[in-house]
Amino acid sequence: MSPSLMALSRDARLVILTGAGISAESGVRTFRDGDGLWERHRLEDVATPEAFRRDPDLVHRFYNERRRGLATAEPNAAHRALVQLESAWAGDLLVVTQNVDDLHDRAGSKHLVHMHGELLKGRCLGCRTVVAWPGDMDCDSRCPVCPTGGMRPHIVWFHELPLCLDPIYEALERCDLFVAIGTSGHVHPAAGFVEAVGPRCRTLELNLEPSRVVSAFQEGRTGRATDLVPTLVAELLS
Ligand code: OAD
Repeated sequence: MSPSLMALSRDARLVILTGAGISAESGVRTFRDGDGLWERHRLEDVATPEAFRRDPDLVHRFYNERRRGLATAEPNAAHRALVQLESAWAGDLLVVTQNVDDLHDRAGSKHLVHMHGELLKGRCLGCRTVVAWPGDMDCDSRCPVCPTGGMRPHIVWFHELPLCLDPIYEALERCDLFVAIGTSGHVHPAAGFVEAVGPRCRTLELNLEPSRVVSAFQEGRTGRATDLVPTLVAELLS
């Protein structure tokens, strides 16, 4: 038994943070790997409120392309293993994802928060209502609720506050095991969650390569999410 899992009871409280690496094997591009999105686009051009004010067409095109890409992606064995864990685990389990794809949702995760927003939703620039938005969005897109509002992607951009931080920090303070999967540790506040857990909490990182914050974890395992996550779930349920 690995040090981070030793003597963990079946009703322990779990918080699982996921990043782009868990969706990589579903064909969704990560941000900072060799062929990552931020290698092909400057984030200052497409992922800030300033960029949207400066060139909304460009920003809409960027997210339309990603929304279309999602249509052909399917949840993989790592997403599914987390659902298996959630349905068999006696204690609280919260998945906190930085991913804006819907692969955890489609796999069947129930206790899930999308802290960086959701690609398949839009937000009214006027009344701020969030609505399902499966297709393309452009500067002529209109809010279905209020008559005048234009729409923006329901994405947390750089310089904006992530969503659901209060329930996330409450879960982190209470949790007995914190696992980070497929995230490079470059973006705060998620990169600092490992420091926000209580003193007795076990911490485990699963990633293709050690992240930049791996030294803050009690244990790090390297490999593909579709191998590491089902193995971890089998260990936890054994
Ligand atoms: P990154 O692209 O920064 O990091 C992805 C991590 O996944 C890297 O550490 C890879 O080594 C790892 N990885 C790649 N393939 C993997 C696989 N098959 N199995 C396991 N791990 C794998 O993505 P995030 O850390 O999620 O924010 O990025 C955080 C935030 O930065 C994103 O949510 C996004 C971005 O800018 C916003 O857009 C607001």
